[in-house]
Amino acid sequence: MDNKLRGDFLRYLAQTSPDPIGIEVERAAGSWLYARGGRRYLDFISGIGVANLGHGHPAVLGAIKRQAERYLHVMVYGEYVLDAQVELARRLTQLLPPNVEQVYFTNSGAEAIEGALKAARKYTGRSAFAAFDGAYHGDTMAALALAGNAAFRAPFEPLPGPVRHLPYGDRAALGAIDESIAAVVIEPVQAEGGVRIPSVDFVHALRERCTQTGAVLIFDEVLTGLGRTGELFALEHFGAAPDLIVLAKALGGGMPLGAFCGSAALIGVLARDPPLGHITTFGGHPLSCAAGLAALETLAAERLPQRAAEVGDALMERLAALMHPAISAIRGIGLLIGIELQSAELTRRFVAGCVEAGVIVNWTLNCDTVVRIAPPLTITPGEIDFAIGAIESALNKL
Ligand SMILES: Cc1ncc(COP(=O)(O)O)c(C=O)c1O
Repeated sequence: MDNKLRGDFLRYLAQTSPDPIGIEVERAAGSWLYARGGRRYLDFISGIGVANLGHGHPAVLGAIKRQAERYLHVMVYGEYVLDAQVELARRLTQLLPPNVEQVYFTNSGAEAIEGALKAARKYTGRSAFAAFDGAYHGDTMAALALAGNAAFRAPFEPLPGPVRHLPYGDRAALGAIDESIAAVVIEPVQAEGGVRIPSVDFVHALRERCTQTGAVLIFDEVLTGLGRTGELFALEHFGAAPDLIVLAKALGGGMPLGAFCGSAALIGVLARDPPLGHITTFGGHPLSCAAGLAALETLAAERLPQRAAEVGDALMERLAALMHPAISAIRGIGLLIGIELQSAELTRRFVAGCVEAGVIVNWTLNCDTVVRIAPPLTITPGEIDFAIGAIESALNKL
């Protein structure tokens, strides 16, 4: 790495951790990041769940170019009729359960969570929320209040609430959802919680409890949406429709874009009494929507969710076949796979070993013994072979 650039990176950019990976990215294409100096790395986390089509997909780049030549930003969100927004919203509502009629576009996942919480409060006239242990919904104040890891919440309290934190996947705990709860927020599969997959029974019981009590059920599909788990949306694994679904990450095809989607009655509360109850200058940026629409059409045309299911199963089998004693469990759904190791220290060393061997993986925020694997859904067999070799060599060095 260029020492001057690295020095300036540490000096001028606010840091988020004491030891950044620090790869100097020259360009990215397909499943690979190319670093200055010639080294390349397999992006086995898809830029944290964003690059579901890999990097630089021509359909996405073409859509961005065409949109950029017409216009970029034109005016405040929600006033003008912008065809890229309309088309993407229309496609999403066609693909989501029938109760989803409208889409509100945001800049990010956390911002979409905030909007969904506001809609739920206004719609129900209630103030409390429920969320689950291990949850991650973003880092703005209300999203953080839902976080299922007290260590991340503590330095920033008091946070918006009250929030009832319930054990993930435990049917018996659902009685705590009562008529005081405006919304229950859940990831249908937890990623940062250590790749945890609840039972179909639990999700159905949750849906039923929310219907009984009038709490708005919000599925956070920021990471699981857009094919990652082997279905276009993870909710399809459970056959349960939430009242609101939150999307982001892969939604913009590599451009920043989030959304919350639901019935017109529910989302509509933000437009009246007073109007402009939730607005954002850049949410649903035309470039992001054009890129997102191209990405969505490509996902569907290339049947990438199905591919993720098949490739994910095969990848899990190969990981299991390594039978390394440091691994205590492997679980996953589609191309969202968790490798659980015997200790946090082994996990940290394993992640560093993989990067050293040319494969980017990372541990999960709320479970320091689980490494998350989430490659582009377009990953090739040869790239999987490369990753397995690197993972095996990292395990053997532990
Ligand atoms: C499940 C989930 N929800 C919400 C978020 C927050 O999204 P953003 O980082 O775009 O604010 C994330 C980000 O990692 C996430 O994984």
